[in-house]
Amino acid sequence: MGESIFRELGVAITAVLEAGARLREHFGRPVTATHKRPADLVTEMDQSAETVLIDRLRADFPTYGFLTEESPAEFGSGQGRWLIDPLDGTTNYVHGYPLFGISVALERAGEIVLGVVYNPLTGELFTGVRGCGATLNGRPICISPTTSLAESLIVSGFPYNAWKSDVDNSAEWRHFLKRALSLRADGSAALDLCHVACGRLDGYWELDLDPWDMAAGALIVQEAGGTVTDVHGMPFSPYGRSVVASNGYIHRAMLEVLAL
Ligand code: IPD
Ligand code: CA
Ligand code: CA
Repeated sequence: MGESIFRELGVAITAVLEAGARLREHFGRPVTATHKRPADLVTEMDQSAETVLIDRLRADFPTYGFLTEESPAEFGSGQGRWLIDPLDGTTNYVHGYPLFGISVALERAGEIVLGVVYNPLTGELFTGVRGCGATLNGRPICISPTTSLAESLIVSGFPYNAWKSDVDNSAEWRHFLKRALSLRADGSAALDLCHVACGRLDGYWELDLDPWDMAAGALIVQEAGGTVTDVHGMPFSPYGRSVVASNGYIHRAMLEVLAL
């Protein structure tokens, strides 16, 4: 990894701290939510945080592209593209439920090389740089030592179109409920991945996600020593919709449950 990755990391951190401060200041105040789809909310705070992130990153890397949740994609002409979820956990945010994050990843030559995820309420800042490890507030993190699914705390989430789609995660949830120690649905894919990376959770799966939900967090899990695939056990791609992330020891058991 060249020297430039640490400059990109520094700017990405500055950007998420700035956007996070804005989200934190407005958290708990009335916010106007509109529906993108029946159960899919967007607020002025999603837009506002995204503007902060794009402006900050563009100022330092004017030729880089953007793939963000709330704005049209920009291809750019430079050596990288930023994948951004400015507010991961919008439903939590709107309800005053204190769990949401900001996710920024850098893609270069088709590979995610950098990931930053920030929880503005706890001040936890997770980073991953390909080949250089993962950190939480500057300290190295690693995955949990749990070796059996029956002892594992597992997290998942439900797609926004669950009302209408058969890919609603209900069968998978029921299968895990009978086999894992316990299940959680926390409402922020990016933080779910980071919680696997730092060993609080042993595994995570989800069936229908966007690239900006997963790109940064998946790299952080890999750099923390974990395993990330799609639900079929194939190599992970942020463009592949599904994700299974674990400490590695329980990965095969998770894939077996998902294949039931
Ligand atoms: C959502 C969260 C949630 C997951 C949803 C995502 P958003 O992102 O990551 O945990 O279950 O599928 O869409 O809309 O809050 O950015
Ligand atoms: Ca998201
Ligand atoms: Ca979002």
